[in-house]
Amino acid sequence: MEIRAVAVIGLGTMGAGIAEVFARAGLPVTGIEADPAALAAGLARITASLDKAVARGKLTQAERDAIAGRVTPGSGPADAAGADLVIEVIPEQLGLKRQIIAELDRSGRPDSIIATNTSSLSVTAIAAASAHPGRVVGMHFFNPAPVMRLVEVVTTVGTDPAVAAAVTELARRLGKTPVQVTDRAGFVANALLLPYLNHAARLLETGYATRADIDAAATEGIGLPMGPLALLDLIGLDTSLAVLDVLRHEFGGSRATPAPILRRLTDAGRTGRKGGGGFYDYPERDAPASADSSFSANADRPADPGTVTLIDPVAAAGPGDAARPDHSERAADLASLIAAAGISVTRNPSHPSDLAVVAIGPQGGVLGPATAAGRAADSVGLHLATPALAELVATPLTSPGALAAAQALVARLGLAVVRAPDRPGLLVGALLYPHLRDAITMVADGYASPADVDAAMTLGCGYPRGPMRMLADVGLGQAVDVLAAMHAGYGDPAFAPPPLLVECARAGIGLDGQPT
Ligand code: 3HC
Repeated sequence: MEIRAVAVIGLGTMGAGIAEVFARAGLPVTGIEADPAALAAGLARITASLDKAVARGKLTQAERDAIAGRVTPGSGPADAAGADLVIEVIPEQLGLKRQIIAELDRSGRPDSIIATNTSSLSVTAIAAASAHPGRVVGMHFFNPAPVMRLVEVVTTVGTDPAVAAAVTELARRLGKTPVQVTDRAGFVANALLLPYLNHAARLLETGYATRADIDAAATEGIGLPMGPLALLDLIGLDTSLAVLDVLRHEFGGSRATPAPILRRLTDAGRTGRKGGGGFYDYPERDAPASADSSFSANADRPADPGTVTLIDPVAAAGPGDAARPDHSERAADLASLIAAAGISVTRNPSHPSDLAVVAIGPQGGVLGPATAAGRAADSVGLHLATPALAELVATPLTSPGALAAAQALVARLGLAVVRAPDRPGLLVGALLYPHLRDAITMVADGYASPADVDAAMTLGCGYPRGPMRMLADVGLGQAVDVLAAMHAGYGDPAFAPPPLLVECARAGIGLDGQPT
């Protein structure tokens, strides 16, 4: 099944990007939109993207012209008759998609491949609209399609293996990495990504953290290429909502239950970048305009925070408490860091000082040690999520003066900072650990291998390390501890450490069975 010519039905953000990918790979592409204005806008999207590449020196004018010349406009499925593969990239409505498939059956060649780029609907349900469901396959690209390297090739129980093989081979010709998956809600990448993004939206709407801090926690704290709220805007809040609705229907649970703010923003027309605004505004360029940051990479050398009292949660808690020796190491590390910055630091709680800092871990827990040390009003918690990012925790008893002194301290230490409430997971962990949990659960379900999970998230979502690698790096024991604390704190089964994680942590092996 050689694919020599293709057609793309629907030239929105994804459709135009996919058409560009085909044309760049040398394939003639028919770009189809029924509405003339939508067709013109879709073709303009492609040429604008190519012009940007010329401006950045990535393409010559001649190459740009050749690529643009491979795209021919079309106004309906009948214009796809010459294509060996037709991919539909129309809005996520099953009825509409089934209608297009049925029309392709009537007007196209019976041996052409019909692909769907659906991100949320069942490929099986879409394929059932064809009299030849064996030729229907999912070909799921990621936004921005010209950049992201993953293509999920989704097979149904009826997909002809030769069709799946041809599409897999085509994805390779496009310079992408195909991963074959079966038809399950969200496939691999969306089933992991969307619940994490949804959780971030919920943290924002419940006032857990600010928009800027949530996004900074993901980029600076976890190392992801974009913050979750900026990424929701890129994907589109309506699309995200559609994926979540399907995930909720198939799997249930709080992780997949859309945060109401997603629906509210969508209803208000704030669908993200494509709608001119979502969580952020996009007044002119594609960059989010941000003004609400408590996150900062502190460049200036601000006021002296005075002498700092460092409280070790283990010592403050006394015998019998659950604090572990590595928590003491954390306090020692923080004390050295503060001293190295030339700031006077004491470990004696009764020494007069402006600020007491509890050296917390990702489980949090400021108030207990602060109160035990008799310093509740002038205590904050500090956790180094990375060597460059501090999570700063003020409790309801922390005085404004202590908070200001703590902000001066992190600035003097040259750390970027995000504010987090004193809840298990703080902010970085609250985003990260349930996300890792979802990945572990997917592996435990047998839907994807650890390698597939990491490939999907690195190639499809630009993660520098996949979730399995992140899990190995933080340590399985720490993941169990933080999830257990979140589960105990919220009572939500979506945070309970999964049995596979607990077993592997106890056995000292990774999820792949290798020693850690
Ligand atoms: N079209 C074409 N090229 C683009 C582009 C676009 N829309 N956006 C960025 N690029 C290119 C740039 O030209 C640049 O190319 P170069 O390296 O050859 O010069 C490269 O991508 C990097 O771009 P920038 O330097 O401008 O910006 P960043 O380094 O910040 O990267 C990003 C931008 C690639 C979008 C990066 O932030 C990223 O990987 N984000 C994560 C995106 C993601 O998770 N996507 C998946 C969403 S889920 C999905 O789509 C599935 C659906 O079903 C919901």
